[in-house]
Amino acid sequence: MPFINRHKTSCALLILTLFCTITFAQPSPLKSSSKIKTKVRQLLAKMTLEEKAGQLNQYASYKNATGPISNTGNIVDEIKQGRVGSIIKVNGTVDIRIYQQAAMQSRLKIPLLFGEDVIHGYRVTFPIPLAEASSWDMEAIKLSARTAATEAAAAGINWTFAPMVDISRDPRWGRVMEGAGEDPYLGSQIAAARVKGFQGNGIGNLDAVMACAKHFAAYGAAIAGRDYNAVDMSERTLWEVYLPPFKAALDAGAATFMNSFNELNGIPATGNRYLQREILKGKWGFKGFVVSDWGSITEMINHGFVTDKKEAATAAMTAGCDMDMEGRSYIENLPRLVKSGKVSARLIDDAVGRILTKKFELGLFDDPFRFCDEKREKLIVNSPQSKQNSRNVARRSIVLLKNEKEILPLSKDVKSIAVIGPLAKAKKDMNGFWALPWGKTDETEPVSLFEGLRNKLGAHTELKYAKGCGVNELSKAGFDEAVNVAKDADVVIMAIGESYDMSGEAKSRSNIHLPGVQEDLVKAIQATGKPLVVLIMGGRPLIFNWTADHVPAILYTWWLGTEAGDAMADVLFGDYNPSGKLPISFPRAEGQIPVFYSYKNTGRPLVNVNDINYKSAYLDLPNTPKFAFGYGLSYTSFSYSALKLSSATITKHQTLHVTFTLTNTGKYTGEEVVQLYLRDRVASVTRPVKELKDFKKIKLLPSESKIITFEIDANKLSFYNQQMHWTTEPGRFDLMIGSASDDIRLKSVFDLVR
Ligand code: NOJ
Repeated sequence: MPFINRHKTSCALLILTLFCTITFAQPSPLKSSSKIKTKVRQLLAKMTLEEKAGQLNQYASYKNATGPISNTGNIVDEIKQGRVGSIIKVNGTVDIRIYQQAAMQSRLKIPLLFGEDVIHGYRVTFPIPLAEASSWDMEAIKLSARTAATEAAAAGINWTFAPMVDISRDPRWGRVMEGAGEDPYLGSQIAAARVKGFQGNGIGNLDAVMACAKHFAAYGAAIAGRDYNAVDMSERTLWEVYLPPFKAALDAGAATFMNSFNELNGIPATGNRYLQREILKGKWGFKGFVVSDWGSITEMINHGFVTDKKEAATAAMTAGCDMDMEGRSYIENLPRLVKSGKVSARLIDDAVGRILTKKFELGLFDDPFRFCDEKREKLIVNSPQSKQNSRNVARRSIVLLKNEKEILPLSKDVKSIAVIGPLAKAKKDMNGFWALPWGKTDETEPVSLFEGLRNKLGAHTELKYAKGCGVNELSKAGFDEAVNVAKDADVVIMAIGESYDMSGEAKSRSNIHLPGVQEDLVKAIQATGKPLVVLIMGGRPLIFNWTADHVPAILYTWWLGTEAGDAMADVLFGDYNPSGKLPISFPRAEGQIPVFYSYKNTGRPLVNVNDINYKSAYLDLPNTPKFAFGYGLSYTSFSYSALKLSSATITKHQTLHVTFTLTNTGKYTGEEVVQLYLRDRVASVTRPVKELKDFKKIKLLPSESKIITFEIDANKLSFYNQQMHWTTEPGRFDLMIGSASDDIRLKSVFDLVR
């Protein structure tokens, strides 16, 4: 079977990088930070207070708004007056040039920054971030961000509002699709990979955009999973679970941060001094700048935190928010506030300085139009290379949930296939939420499952189709036709799930079961007795217990992007052996939410499921999720053996070397994500029953074995003690290595000693 391997992912990355470097080599912009500092100082000295406020002001163009537009005036006129520092929601070199030309007519000719939500691809769409997280493949994730950045930068964009690094343990929250799931360790690795992918060899290169780690902080913990809702969280959970991916993004060099719509423990994140000045710019030493979320400065009035825009501007600036996204609080109020002594001029200079520094680093002062090369845009955007990269990442993002009797992979010799379900021919839905709108092409370009199958199979395979029902409709009028089509075929492939607008910003849902009558359609098709494979597409973990219990083969494909259909066909027919693992637990019922693998043991743990009396348990549900974090099958099988620890004890200055043998015991080449979990048995602060501390994705030929090594140092054994100091405590640790958080194959213990 011709599997496409990791090697090809790296090759694609290399080709892409070479392509950009060779074709568009340009002198790189001013790099020396001391020279930039001097230039910034000189420029600040020339600026009026109004011009400084202008640099802190960001408007959205009138296109593709993702929030309420505050601006009623003429943006271009305001730019010429030096009242705007950045524009978002305009893309393409032609349009961007128009705005930049206006900036060049302002007194000081300070170039604009152009930002956009390049979340999972620019023109060519990649899998949604939660899907990519399922690959547990940092090279693939980097490739996705790299490709998106290369396209976006070629189209004039300097800055993406990604990665979203919010941990979320609540699949009701629609934005769970935009993150990396529930775990701080996995989330941190992915945050770093995405930042590195976007920023490439550094901002200022023509194929790089500034990354923006968002939303600082704790947005993913919105009460009841309702978007924009308040967050109430302990310091411990904040530091242990929600902050680590932000720190990882910062360490990877993220140029910017975005604050957040939510309040955290009573203080809106946008006006939160503790988060922005103390942690981010203080303790962590962040040198880039912070942008508000869309209108979030002004929204502090609704929060009940400030009375009016004047107070909102004061609170946000004092708290460390440098730029006002589409809110007008800064531009309307900061000059007056400084003059009246309410806001210190030093804070304004610091904020402006941070923004100007990035403009210098991007080379925009050398040439404000250096990202506006139409020829380059045409060559790079929507290129075959981008599409190939997208397909490559897409098939790595698919998770095989079930494969009874090895129905999969299907044979390419099959005579007839019934392709059934409301998403079988869907195209726009394949892109998912946060795909940039490209007009009519959204309806034509993404490869549907049906097309992917047609592309894959020869003329000897007949493909029959029936929609069966709508995604979120109650009519069963199409069931009979679907059943008849199924009866007539050798194999049935069903495509069900969510449409593109059912998960995303402001797309929270209280009922996350398969929408409409789709599960009834599955029941009707399953009753035909035909071999059945169900593909579930969507932006969040859905609940589909009947399907999970009765259908023999299930692939969770999420929303895979432009090349979705081809990627799914690659997996269905074994041209790629699925290797994805869930980055988030799948609940059995909404009532279990939040359900996650790293829970606390409690004083009354459930040890025996048959004895729930006075135990931490539900009367009506198991405690476990339907599908656990880290779970995902392959067409092959793997055995874990020969676990060895370099020592039974270590001190905090030593490193424990853990080795074991991984063997491919099946008949296909495949990749396994081996996962290392630890439990600190007794500590001055209780620790979770399991914490992911490392993982590796390993490719093996049939019968091949490899010795795998993990290294455990003090950092992996540390936690925040009662005084919130990051420290280790001597004691016993359980070591668990496995194929999923609920499929531990090797166990041992070791002691941390003084
Ligand atoms: C609001 C979203 O919360 C944020 O993530 C996004 O980047 C901005 N809108 C800009 O569209």
